[in-house]
Amino acid sequence: GRLVVLVSGSGTNLQALLDASADPAYGARVVAVGADREGIEGLGRAERAGIPTFVEKVGDHADRAAWDAAIAARIAEHEPGLVVSAGFMKILGAPTLEAFTVLNTHPALLPSFPGAHGVRDALAHGVKVTGCTVMLADAGVDTGPIIAQEAVRVFHGDDEAMLHERIKTVERGLLVEIVGRMAREGWAVKGRTVIIGGES
Ligand code: GRF
Repeated sequence: GRLVVLVSGSGTNLQALLDASADPAYGARVVAVGADREGIEGLGRAERAGIPTFVEKVGDHADRAAWDAAIAARIAEHEPGLVVSAGFMKILGAPTLEAFTVLNTHPALLPSFPGAHGVRDALAHGVKVTGCTVMLADAGVDTGPIIAQEAVRVFHGDDEAMLHERIKTVERGLLVEIVGRMAREGWAVKGRTVIIGGES
């Protein structure tokens, strides 16, 4: 399966997918990396791995609809079987969501703590268990069908950075597992349920 990965930051989830792709048995490989900004470590990781990159900044377009169309066109050039939004801090529009299956990852147990500050919000609430969620992207903020989740304990004295690092270690493993299974076994979406493999 061909993967296009979208990033806005450090790209450690991207790196985990690049590392997994090194084994042909994994069944998926990153063919391009897209971003909504320049100068981020995620793009550096792609360049060092020899993977083509593209950048589409919202501010370079007349309006959001023009950006939506432009990023969908850039993704389409690489003919992905799956698009992975891995720390990509933009909501994708209809042109991308209608043309591709888009996976998203979030550092909290949805539907708790959606949005850009899932780790901070969970800490502020005082939960003792949080985690990560791999889901399908839809037009909302972290509202798509949930595919897999894993719990992570909150420790006394955790700050946002410590807790996020502990979550990200689990999140990378879960994302790599789900992307590989979907690529190798196929999937079907029935309402809010994503069925991997089987008779899909
Ligand atoms: C991940 O925890 C992702 O869920 C969140 O931001 C982090 C991205 O990390 N939205 P990286 O860029 O993959 O290192």
